[in-house]
Amino acid sequence: MRIAILTSGGDAPGMNATIRAVVRTCIFEGIEVYGIMGGYEGLIDAKFEKLIEASVADIIQRGGTILSTTRSERFQTDEGFEKALNSLKIFEIDALIVLGGDGSLRGAKKLCEAGINVVGIPCSIDNDMGYTDYTIGFMTAVRTVTEAISNIRDTTEAHGRANVVEVMGRECGDIALFSGVSSGAESIIVPEFPMNINEIAEKALVGKNRGKRHHIIIMAEGCGSAFEFAKEFEKLTGIDTRVTVLGYIQRGGAPSIFDRILASEFGYHAVYFAKDKKSGALGSVKGKIIMESFEDVFNIKKKFRQDLLEILKTVSI
Ligand code: F6P
Repeated sequence: MRIAILTSGGDAPGMNATIRAVVRTCIFEGIEVYGIMGGYEGLIDAKFEKLIEASVADIIQRGGTILSTTRSERFQTDEGFEKALNSLKIFEIDALIVLGGDGSLRGAKKLCEAGINVVGIPCSIDNDMGYTDYTIGFMTAVRTVTEAISNIRDTTEAHGRANVVEVMGRECGDIALFSGVSSGAESIIVPEFPMNINEIAEKALVGKNRGKRHHIIIMAEGCGSAFEFAKEFEKLTGIDTRVTVLGYIQRGGAPSIFDRILASEFGYHAVYFAKDKKSGALGSVKGKIIMESFEDVFNIKKKFRQDLLEILKTVSI
């Protein structure tokens, strides 16, 4: 049997740990395994490289992806898609394992509909897929944001200021929510709820009157301009306000322990699903690894952790 693996879309810490688990499980099962370089672009151009035990040595702790990644526009075209199918035929690939986020798994769905045995593994710092509790890379991004906020808090406290910290997440507020709880931020602004600037301003002023000298507001990128918000907030409260856009720092770095374990589980199980000719995307639900059909993956709506928001509102005052 021959399995191929590719990484696509935005990279996520833990992709390498997943590749390692896939390759080592394949070798254990006597399955030949090929890495496709550069995501769906590499699939179109047939950039296949045979992977052996040593190809994945010393990568469990590394961010990024040894297979490199792209956001492929050619794969969206009929011509590109046909070429991709052709590459799989030429290399006699029995199953393909795709690591990536929403867009990449949509590509996996399309290949599956064309008759390819495909297993998708959710890798994205955004945690924006409803069918799985966690995507690989999310907890690492939350750790990075949390660490950055402790540094920001020191200087914010020293000056008695407010700091609006913009985080990634596309249309999903999970990075803001989880890092809000773990960093003790006073307020979060997420795309899932309309923002109430008066409420945020009142909370900051009540804190200030109590003697509080730092006000951290985390704003998810899907909520507009952090600079505009900061200007408005400063006008309302009179508190000197700065902005920090964390940006790509959130996508790199050594994966957290949680992500390394999840990556190992997903990588290992992906090989056995592929071996059994089962197609779909893997997820982690209440601590269990599941496979969801590509149909349902995009039909299950993402639920916002309202319980965590209530906790934040209660304890971060
Ligand atoms: O999907 C991961 C992500 O980092 C989002 O949080 C962000 O909106 C986007 O990718 C940035 O994409 P790019 O790397 O193409 O700039």
